[in-house]
Amino acid sequence: MSGTRKVSVEINGVPVEAEVEPRLLLSDFIRHEAGLTGTHVGCEHGVCGACTVQLEGRPVRSCLMFAVQADGRSVRTVEDLAPSETEMHPLQQAFHECHALQCGFCTPGFLMSIEPELAGADELTDAEIREMVGGNLCRCTGYQGIVEAVRLAARRINEKGHA
Ligand code: FES
Ligand code: FES
Repeated sequence: MSGTRKVSVEINGVPVEAEVEPRLLLSDFIRHEAGLTGTHVGCEHGVCGACTVQLEGRPVRSCLMFAVQADGRSVRTVEDLAPSETEMHPLQQAFHECHALQCGFCTPGFLMSIEPELAGADELTDAEIREMVGGNLCRCTGYQGIVEAVRLAARRINEKGHA
């Protein structure tokens, strides 16, 4: 097709190839080409953090990147967090236990932003946690449950040493 480009992105360890418009956002590539709808799209201009995924292990806002910019690179989405169908990641478990979500729209973005920060961060202050989640907006929870969940997850992950 003229004007399109072939893009290949490794998403959660699986290569996803598609012929796309150069203006296609990475968030839309993930949702529509890879069919991974756990990555949510809220503001679509870099403000809310709902679309956060990990690119080469670091959190990025997938609505601020074009799919072509991720060509040949590795992306991880929220679908890859849980170790199995029946087990949650410690961060997901802590969100569940601490009532850190209500509607859940913001949750994948929070999880993917926080997860890389937890290794070696066992005793976090409220201020450190609020700084860590400062780029993600939640309209439901008032953030207190999220702060508690991050502290609990960090403690458990670093006790077990399996971040
Ligand atoms: S949808 Fe990407 S930051 Fe809001
Ligand atoms: S739980 Fe509804 S926006 Fe965060």
